[in-house]
Amino acid sequence: MACDCGIFNKLKRGMATGNSNDNGNGNKGKEDKGKEGDSSGNNASSSSKNTLVKDNRMAPLCKSPDWSEFEGVKASAFYSAGGELRACRFLTEVSQILMQYYVTSRNSKNKLLDFHHPHQLREMMGHCLDLDESPRDLEQLLSDCKETLKYCVKTGHGHFFNQLSTGLDIVGLAGEWLTAVSNTNMFTYEVAPVFTLMEDVVLRRMLSKVGWEDGDGTFAPGGAVSNLYGVLLARHHTFPNVKTEGMPSCAQPVVFTSEQSHFSIKRACVLLGLGTNNYIKIPCDSRGKMVVSELEQQILAAKREGKVPMMVNAMCGTTVMGAFDPTEEIADL
Ligand SMILES: Cc1ncc(COP(=O)(O)O)c(C=O)c1O
Repeated sequence: MACDCGIFNKLKRGMATGNSNDNGNGNKGKEDKGKEGDSSGNNASSSSKNTLVKDNRMAPLCKSPDWSEFEGVKASAFYSAGGELRACRFLTEVSQILMQYYVTSRNSKNKLLDFHHPHQLREMMGHCLDLDESPRDLEQLLSDCKETLKYCVKTGHGHFFNQLSTGLDIVGLAGEWLTAVSNTNMFTYEVAPVFTLMEDVVLRRMLSKVGWEDGDGTFAPGGAVSNLYGVLLARHHTFPNVKTEGMPSCAQPVVFTSEQSHFSIKRACVLLGLGTNNYIKIPCDSRGKMVVSELEQQILAAKREGKVPMMVNAMCGTTVMGAFDPTEEIADL
């Protein structure tokens, strides 16, 4: 393996590679100091001019890891005498791995992805993925951490572009670490006092963004659940009796959505008992925007059949084309 600049030469002993901390079959092993490289397994030229190299503050990242103290030590050791210190040492090593990954993955000279087909990767990572009957030792876990990151898509890489996400927000990352270390949940104020207040502040800000002075809300874990909530809200708004009487109490509701919309809208219609026949896809123009005249035709047709138009799902940034539907025209219909 080879590094592309001084810091990566220094980091080489501390970076995960196909074999740097690997004895050939992916299992833990002592660092192979005769080889050069980075966690992406790329080759690149060396440059001693890199300013990071001259920066002593980066020194901890350049240090070769010594995990020998974790050899044969299981996680249960964290809970016995001296466990606290051992836990701190272990977490320090984990954070070194994570920071080294951050530095290496940002380097555009390195590969964005060390791609392998699923069956190949399954075989290559068997030592990480296979579930043993007995717990692994901590040295192996550290090795597995490096190995896992090695095959990740480097989303902080300069050439990573995605329609939904890109880059790495360092403050956000710090927040994620903070959340993980607090190891709580959002059940009640008693178990998450500060986070409960934070939730309230953020919800209030979001309500004000859409022009509401009062209201309530909840955070959703992703797009599919948000869409489910959206269809649920539309159903509750149109047929509030469903809450107590169930679906037989409502006429045949229909949902209209752009043909470019995410399949989770259809799934929400299934989950909420609307039926796929009442999920109507509206054609889009060449730029992926919903054609409003087509929507109008479909709404009129549904009404003629005695159905009740319950929701139009207008998109602001479709999954593939990033299109924005003409929301004002749709609202005027
Ligand atoms: C418009 C839209 N809705 C929902 C989803 C699903 O999001 P998630 O995977 O976070 O549930 C996506 C994902 O691409 C999306 O583009």
